[in-house]
Amino acid sequence: MNDVLPGEIGRWHRVEAAFRSSMGRLGYREVRTPYLEPTGLFVRTIGEATDVVEKEMYSFVFHDEPLTLRPEGTAGAARAYVEHKIHNVEPVSRWFYLGPMFRGERPAKGRYRQFNQVGAECFGDPGPGCDAEMIDALVGFLVEIGIPKPDVFINSIGNAETRERYKQALVKALEPKKETLSADSQRRLVTNPLRILDSKHPADKAAIEGAPTVLDFLSDEDRAHWDGLRRHLDALGTAYTVDPKLVRGLDYYGRTLFEIKGAYDKLGAGSTLVGGGRYDGMVEELGGPKVPAIGFAAGLERLLIASDLQVPTSVVDVLIAPLGERAVDAALVLGRDLRRADVRCEVDTRNASIKAQLRRANSLGARFAIIVGDREIDEGIVELKDLANRTQERVARADVVPRILARSAHGVVSAEVESAASQAEANADVSLSAPDAGDP
Ligand code: HAM
Repeated sequence: MNDVLPGEIGRWHRVEAAFRSSMGRLGYREVRTPYLEPTGLFVRTIGEATDVVEKEMYSFVFHDEPLTLRPEGTAGAARAYVEHKIHNVEPVSRWFYLGPMFRGERPAKGRYRQFNQVGAECFGDPGPGCDAEMIDALVGFLVEIGIPKPDVFINSIGNAETRERYKQALVKALEPKKETLSADSQRRLVTNPLRILDSKHPADKAAIEGAPTVLDFLSDEDRAHWDGLRRHLDALGTAYTVDPKLVRGLDYYGRTLFEIKGAYDKLGAGSTLVGGGRYDGMVEELGGPKVPAIGFAAGLERLLIASDLQVPTSVVDVLIAPLGERAVDAALVLGRDLRRADVRCEVDTRNASIKAQLRRANSLGARFAIIVGDREIDEGIVELKDLANRTQERVARADVVPRILARSAHGVVSAEVESAASQAEANADVSLSAPDAGDP
């Protein structure tokens, strides 16, 4: 579990804002569901014989109620969809979410016990166009946040009947090689044979070579969906690789499965950025009507490791450096005036030397330093230092705010605000602006 310190938060805000903006443009709206859900919800949807449910959930009993810290966001979203009878309100619902998930996995680079996902779920659209659009939009989002060459892998595992027929064929093919399989896979041969395809164990990999592939078992309807998906991706010009061994670790999927990988130099070959797929049976399983659904999630920490994105580290636009007690009064008032004009400003009230205060201005990435001492107060002026242009001028106190706004509007440096407010206004450029500044 990680602390995210203020020095790192700018990149988080930028990726989160890009995600909100990207999903907003696709007609998705944010949903927020609880971090805790009844344990049974995850067991029923993710499946009993999965790593997540068998080994990784933070579960406990509180006043006789079994609860679990959500290991992922899909089950909670579907639960909310059913609970609020959203199907009665609209035929198609497009939801996205951001937030922490919890899995007691063995920690590694890009794998944590509390991690953050950005994800989305689309309820009510059975068409492969929906699948293709989601994959294409994801590629666009990854490129936008500085992950240049994402690789898309797709597969179809068909409907429930298809999977049943395929499971039997797979077990039949692997049964004679049972002794060579890893202990986990020997167990999975009975509990969850599809997961053997996903095994990283060399012995399992060897045994799987030559085993039948699920694509040969698709029903006519599955095949039409699968062909449609590839046709739509081709029409969009979205490159992909068909990987018939792609099965993913959650049991709720049917038909389309996809994963996106990239930045192998930073994350290693096995590290998946995005995972998703169709789960047309979940809403009904949770007591709702038959509503098809598809979704994905990406690990935010992994996106940040993979991304080349650099974010300006400026904390404030202006540092006010008062010299002496009386100057602190004047500086506090000036600081408030600047903030009312939307300028980010720190008043250094430490009673430090001018040198130390200017060092502080530099380390905060401030564009301006304003020096106020007794003499300046008596003369009704301040010393305005432009740290980017390395100039200094005496400015009448009454002109300080408009001067800074005007200089910033025409200036070379404009630092970006990394506040929660800017994050919410996805991608809003809230650098210094001079909406109502008069002429200098
Ligand atoms: P998932 O493949 O389990 O799918 O996780 C999606 C992504 O979350 C992974 O590709 C990875 O980037 C990130 N992730 C998973 N576990 C960890 C971890 N321990 N530490 C860091 N990052 C991690 C799901 O969660 C599905 N709910 C996706 C989905 C949505 N399918 C349909 N709708």
